[in-house]
Amino acid sequence: MSSPVLAIEGLSKGFASGGQRVSVLTGLTLSVLPGESLAVIGRSGSGKSTLLNLLCGLQRADGGVITVAGESFDSSDNRDFDTRWAELRRRSIGVVFQDANLMPALSLVENVQLRANLAGLAGGGERRWLERLGVGAEADRYPDQVSGGQAQRAALAMVFAMAPSLILADEPTGSLDRHTADEVADCLFDVQRNSGCALVLATHDRELAGRCNHLLDLSGTP
Ligand SMILES: Nc1ncnc2c1ncn2[C@@H]1O[C@H](COP(=O)(O)OP(=O)(O)OP(=O)(O)O)[C@@H](O)[C@H]1O
Ligand SMILES: [Mg+2]
Repeated sequence: MSSPVLAIEGLSKGFASGGQRVSVLTGLTLSVLPGESLAVIGRSGSGKSTLLNLLCGLQRADGGVITVAGESFDSSDNRDFDTRWAELRRRSIGVVFQDANLMPALSLVENVQLRANLAGLAGGGERRWLERLGVGAEADRYPDQVSGGQAQRAALAMVFAMAPSLILADEPTGSLDRHTADEVADCLFDVQRNSGCALVLATHDRELAGRCNHLLDLSGTP
């Protein structure tokens, strides 16, 4: 059996609030294999975005161990924390948010090229990724010349063009209408499964969550 792309052991995180420490995640343990997807659901404030931030090193856990693509981060050992996570994000972790966050001064294809180059890839396949995601005709347009759905498809093309081991998606279809959201989700799952990377998807959308292999509901925790 292949080893997990993502493994979490005993992950805990809390925040200071009014002089107290409020737990958001407590002792979370799970793993995601290549080609698998995990939906993270739960009410607003249950910790979905916090979990995704921990999984790409944008926040530090209070306890536990996170392993991504064979690289382990033990919360009791913060040596080189920022450097190691930055390198992992650059090469192996694709992040998609609710809004596309494209560079406004670059065309769609230039945005995709930039992300592939940052990951250390020579490039050349950027237009094909945009075509595969249904925005090949818009490749030379700038972000302010395309719709929200088209920009989000370009954001997915950026992520796939970097050949990530892990994709973290926080409400990736949250700003789209139902029809466009379904189309963008079709593209996301199709390419993710075929490319064999793992996906962690935070969402309020139960239908979207139901398309993932595994479900983590944070509502009941801690
Ligand atoms: N930097 C921070 N400092 C203090 N508290 C924080 C911080 N970030 C998040 N929190 C708190 O942690 C809890 C979880 O927040 P988080 O953003 O992870 O929720 P969420 O499940 O993503 O919510 P939503 O569905 O609204 O996006 C909330 O109570 C929030 O107020
Ligand atoms: Mg959130």
